[in-house]
Amino acid sequence: MKNYGFTAFLLLTAWAGSSSVWAESAPTASHPSTQVALMASSCANCHGTDGKLAGAIPAIANRPAGVLEAQLLAFKQDQQPNTTVMNRIAKGFSDEELKALAEYFAHIGQD
Ligand code: HEC
Repeated sequence: MKNYGFTAFLLLTAWAGSSSVWAESAPTASHPSTQVALMASSCANCHGTDGKLAGAIPAIANRPAGVLEAQLLAFKQDQQPNTTVMNRIAKGFSDEELKALAEYFAHIGQD
């Protein structure tokens, strides 16, 4: 029940508000929640199921979460000039959601 634990972590974090007590003792957000999986399914249309498509569109699975997150934030903030669609897609997500998506794809293929 990995997903359940992460959901509980999110709920606890939300419940605790700005208090950092729970955030410090809770595990990092490395386990994809059902909600993240749902968001990530929209990426599969172009990047392939599980983000592993080999083709003109870059694969995003199993790459460092920090790299993916930085790329997504760059798209969102118009700091990545070589973009056709990702700038528009990234703007549809909060920074926290982009971080969760980056961690989701970074962990695919690592189990
Ligand atoms: C409409 C097709 C499409 C969808 C949907 C899509 N992408 Fe992309 N993605 C691209 C294309 C095309 C590129 C290459 C950059 C560009 O042209 O914008 C790209 C590039 C990227 C990159 C940079 C990869 C690299 O090595 O440069 C990341 C990270 C990424 N996408 C993540 C995502 C995530 C996460 C989602 C879901 C929220 C998503 N993409 C949804 C088409 C798509």
